[in-house]
Amino acid sequence: MQHTSKLPDVKTTIFSIMSGLAKTHNAINLSQGFPDFESDKTLTDLVCKAMNSGYNQYAPMYGNLELRQAIAKKIELLYNTSYHPDNEITVTAGATQAIFTVINTFIREGDEVIIFKPAYDSYEPAVKLNGGTPIAIQLEAPFFGVDWDLVRQKISSRTKMIIVNTPHNPLGTVFSKADMLQLQDLTKNTDIIVLSDEVYEHMIYDGEQHQSACLFPDLKKRSFVVASFCKTFHNTGWRIGYCCAPKELMDLFMQVHQFNVFCVHHPTQKGIADYMQEPKHYLELSAFYQQKRDLFLNLIKDSRFKFKPSKGTYFQVLDYSAITDEYDVDFAKRLTVESGIASIPLSVFNTNNIDHKVLRFCFAKKDDTLKRAADILNTI
Ligand SMILES: Cc1ncc(COP(=O)(O)O)c(C=O)c1O
Repeated sequence: MQHTSKLPDVKTTIFSIMSGLAKTHNAINLSQGFPDFESDKTLTDLVCKAMNSGYNQYAPMYGNLELRQAIAKKIELLYNTSYHPDNEITVTAGATQAIFTVINTFIREGDEVIIFKPAYDSYEPAVKLNGGTPIAIQLEAPFFGVDWDLVRQKISSRTKMIIVNTPHNPLGTVFSKADMLQLQDLTKNTDIIVLSDEVYEHMIYDGEQHQSACLFPDLKKRSFVVASFCKTFHNTGWRIGYCCAPKELMDLFMQVHQFNVFCVHHPTQKGIADYMQEPKHYLELSAFYQQKRDLFLNLIKDSRFKFKPSKGTYFQVLDYSAITDEYDVDFAKRLTVESGIASIPLSVFNTNNIDHKVLRFCFAKKDDTLKRAADILNTI
């Protein structure tokens, strides 16, 4: 019997390649986005407590009620808007499942989905698996801003969804209020769904405000806002997140979600619900990561890499055009093998693998790791 791939273009992800190479060559791994420090013991204790207190059977389909209430409270506090915990908030297996299920719920054969490149790598395969066509809009160096006139031109009668991501992985840029107003304006009086990937909402620097889709009433009506506890609470292995949307949209999402996972790890939900009773646990995150960004950038300020400080996420992109004109994938591999530091080449996230001579480094690392990494980068 002959089986064919539903995703013939998909190869081993760059994350596996670079992390594998880092391991083989004992390199400092700033490639994949995960912390090399432990998360708060208070949180892990609360999850263990939940496990020891009987939170071990199926959670409700939307998620543990206390967690949904804590999420609703957080959104009220930060964005002064409400989602009803009963039917507008769903806890998911990471943001990844929320993204996949939103796309699975709405995208049919022939639908077009606008995606800004570089883009997080799960969007396009999810669109294709559902018969949709990704319509890529490449963001261009050096500013990587969105040309909203171009977006207007790309919107057609087949456009079913626009996926946005702010703060942005891999660029570390953020959408301004003006960007969000443009998005709101462009989608007004259409049936377009906006999938707003906001997993780095709590990592935003230099006094900027996160511009959530839920802040803009007309945008909120058509949006799924996706968030991740993995990012926020330093536990990428827990794979737990959530999404919010108005009830009419969430009702449709739930039809798929119930047959996809139905519910996710219950004791973790209860532990996070208790932990979130203290808002400082998410309010202090930007300051925590800004200190790491500043430490890293200060240490490499005299290196031959050029950069604009990341505005959000825990990623910093570095331009190496003054060092070599090597293809970014080759340079990233060479840095790992010969110099002992692993990063992610940005071309893998771009249309036609366009190479802007930029590498992405993750600064969610212990200060000591960042110092050792900087020592190496200063010699390149
Ligand atoms: C932009 C973006 N969206 C979604 C995700 C997935 O988040 P989670 O680990 O909660 O599934 C990531 C993880 O790297 C990400 O960078």
